Amino acid sequence: MEAYKVANASGLVKLDAMENPYPWPKQMKTEWLKLMAEADINRYPDPSSALLIKKLRKTFDIGDDQAVLLGNGSDELIQLVLMALNPSSCVLVPTPSFVMYQQISTSLGLPCECVPLNADFSLNMPMMLEAIKKHDPAVIFLAYPNNPTANLFDENDIIKIVEACNGLIIIDEAYQPFAGKTFLQKLTKNMPQLLVMRTVSKLGLAGLRLGYLVGDKALLEQFEKIRLPYNINVLTQLTATFAFDHIKELDKQAESICKQRESLLRALGDVENITVFPSQANFILFSLLDKSAKNVFSKLKKAGILIKLMGNVEGLPTECLRVTVGTQEQNKQFLNALTSIYNES
Ligand SMILES: Cc1ncc(COP(=O)(O)O)c(C=O)c1O
Repeated sequence: MEAYKVANASGLVKLDAMENPYPWPKQMKTEWLKLMAEADINRYPDPSSALLIKKLRKTFDIGDDQAVLLGNGSDELIQLVLMALNPSSCVLVPTPSFVMYQQISTSLGLPCECVPLNADFSLNMPMMLEAIKKHDPAVIFLAYPNNPTANLFDENDIIKIVEACNGLIIIDEAYQPFAGKTFLQKLTKNMPQLLVMRTVSKLGLAGLRLGYLVGDKALLEQFEKIRLPYNINVLTQLTATFAFDHIKELDKQAESICKQRESLLRALGDVENITVFPSQANFILFSLLDKSAKNVFSKLKKAGILIKLMGNVEGLPTECLRVTVGTQEQNKQFLNALTSIYNES
């Protein structure tokens, strides 16, 4: 295995990790700092995060018939779910997708079967159904929208997968704030194997490390057994509860990111010899038809812009790069740097 590498972004315009680029308004920050000053950091956190879960249920309209499990980021939830499996279980993911599904499976010694997406990044249903039949996976992860391809899978395809699979289907809605579509309201007693996972990272709280898994009570009780009691720290519990009181501000920021995404999609589409893929998320995948992605990535970095080089990711077109939607100013800096790279040769 190789450790998950995070690029050093110091001094660079950071457009590599799908973070929300906007700070909080001054008044909100002042109120929050007052709250922080009163935090009992000499005490262990509430192990059940009761106040936070109550606020979360209200903010995101989570029904009383569903349970909520919190993780130190959704990364930890992925790990929790996989740790709970029988060691002979298999994990199934369409690829390319979020690398942590495979990374954590491998770290736990679980086989991870990959099914390539179609060329338009939709689910290859014949192959998915065949793989389900062949491997009987204990868990299937479906990122909705998917990372790095930025698209939403077809809802009916997902339902067909839920119907065909004996194991759990985790719909990872990390990018839901930018897609507007969700399976949260589709969670019912008839489909207890369907779970929805979300994170607050992309909404603007990446530094907090908070993810939540919603689904069947009896199922989530099993994961509760292996959750470490204090996985959500005092500052995260207080800050997330406070932030949900100001959800309108975060929603406004997400709306603005979506507007910026549309402008960035248009502008990138105007650059000759670049193929831009549609996006329902806060990032854009694009491939270079006549240049090396590695070269362009390095030149952008030299110009002070950090994006993500996709490298040889199976299932992606060659020479792909992924850029996070930033502020209007950051996007302009990125586009200027990119166009000057194109103009120099
Ligand atoms: C699809 C997907 N799920 C989950 C995560 C990680 O979320 P968190 O920051 O809550 O660990 C990411 C991060 O990029 C992601 O792309």
